[in-house]
Amino acid sequence: AALERLAAEIDRDATVVALTGAGISAPSGVPTFRGDDGVWDHFDEGQFTYGRFRSDPAGFWEDRIELQRALFGDDYEPNAGHEALAELGRDGYLDAVLTQNTDGLHGDAADALDDETPILELHGNARRVRCTDCGTRREGDPIFERAADGELPPTCDCGGIYKPDVVLFGEQLSGAVIQRARSLTAESDIFLGIGSSLVVEPAASLPREAATTGATIGIVNLESTPVDGVADAVSHVDVTDALPRLQSLLADR
Ligand code: OAD
Repeated sequence: AALERLAAEIDRDATVVALTGAGISAPSGVPTFRGDDGVWDHFDEGQFTYGRFRSDPAGFWEDRIELQRALFGDDYEPNAGHEALAELGRDGYLDAVLTQNTDGLHGDAADALDDETPILELHGNARRVRCTDCGTRREGDPIFERAADGELPPTCDCGGIYKPDVVLFGEQLSGAVIQRARSLTAESDIFLGIGSSLVVEPAASLPREAATTGATIGIVNLESTPVDGVADAVSHVDVTDALPRLQSLLADR
């Protein structure tokens, strides 16, 4: 009934914002961070902080190569959950995707469907690296290969050190991105929290901010989240079932 409730409130005039986390990419084979067999069961979060990157960039990169393999080592593509969100966007029912994921899968799904709904990657994009001196962004794979071949840390032509183009623990999110995410959240009539444990700030606060300004809050997650208590509709269903179902409820009417 949760999805029917949400579908009943969504129309093309409503501002609908989705916040996604690792759970939406789990069915694509990208592991989640928390929960059984999560990435943080196998890796020490403390090795991937911004402080470590600054003080020991070679050691950081050596460990990051392993983390990158664990996260993105297998070929992966968008699943029915990403596709349903892209379809909702293309059909005029979804106004923005805010994602904590760095896997680029929302962009792939949107490209495949010619959907132009804005996607805000709050934690950056792990397919790229960025020079910490001159700011140049580059495709990540060749740089990761150089690092794996022993260039630790890999450096830019300008001499600066490359960093994966993601937000590390202890590092600020891009001010412009979080500001835009906050204003979309404040404008939202319906705010959907999808496949995220909703425990990492500042993303975790966004659903509560949306609730404060009167939005209807929907949660899609296999498990309970700390936000379920303030949510109007909670669906403990796999994203690959819930999101196509929501999309088809809207398409059928
Ligand atoms: P988590 O790993 O914390 O949470 C994933 C959530 O997805 C859990 O609540 C699962 O119950 C849910 N889930 C898993 N599979 C699902 C499925 N098929 N359908 C529905 N729900 C499913 O991931 P995030 O909340 O994204 O930060 O984690 C937030 C941040 O913590 C990440 O961006 C990362 C991490 O440390 C950085 O790297 C900065």
